[in-house]
Amino acid sequence: MENRNKLQSNEETLIVIKPDGFKRGLTGKIISRFEDKGFQIKKIKSFQFDKMEAEEFYNIHRDKPFFNELVSFITSGIVVACVIEGINAVTTTRLMIGSTKSSEADAGTIRGDFGLGLTDNIIHASDSVESFIKESKVIFG
Ligand code: CMP
Repeated sequence: MENRNKLQSNEETLIVIKPDGFKRGLTGKIISRFEDKGFQIKKIKSFQFDKMEAEEFYNIHRDKPFFNELVSFITSGIVVACVIEGINAVTTTRLMIGSTKSSEADAGTIRGDFGLGLTDNIIHASDSVESFIKESKVIFG
């Protein structure tokens, strides 16, 4: 019974619709997918990252060769961030967004259905509860 409860745990995660997703008018469609799945949108914010916030948000990638490109892209336009809540939110949300390379993401996932890019891959979602706590703090305080 304890195990079963663990598998069914209610949790929160963060999604960020990136500047390409926002510019292309995909915000409503993307949020609807999460609502249709059964998640609740607990917080929502539309804004533009400044450089410092973006560097903090993507701190885990600071030493990667694509870091500067990533910061430059995420600060290039409006994003929409949502805290979403529901059963197994972190894992299920990652499944729903698909592989990082949109051109290789499965059909039926958000990246697989709406994009082809790598840096411009439409949406970000926290990869763990720890990342959710850090990332949502940058955005929602
Ligand atoms: P995201 O889920 O926001 O997390 C980090 C981002 O880095 C990733 O999506 C991609 O948009 C971006 N990125 C750019 N180049 C690469 C790369 N070579 N490997 C992984 N991620 C990359």
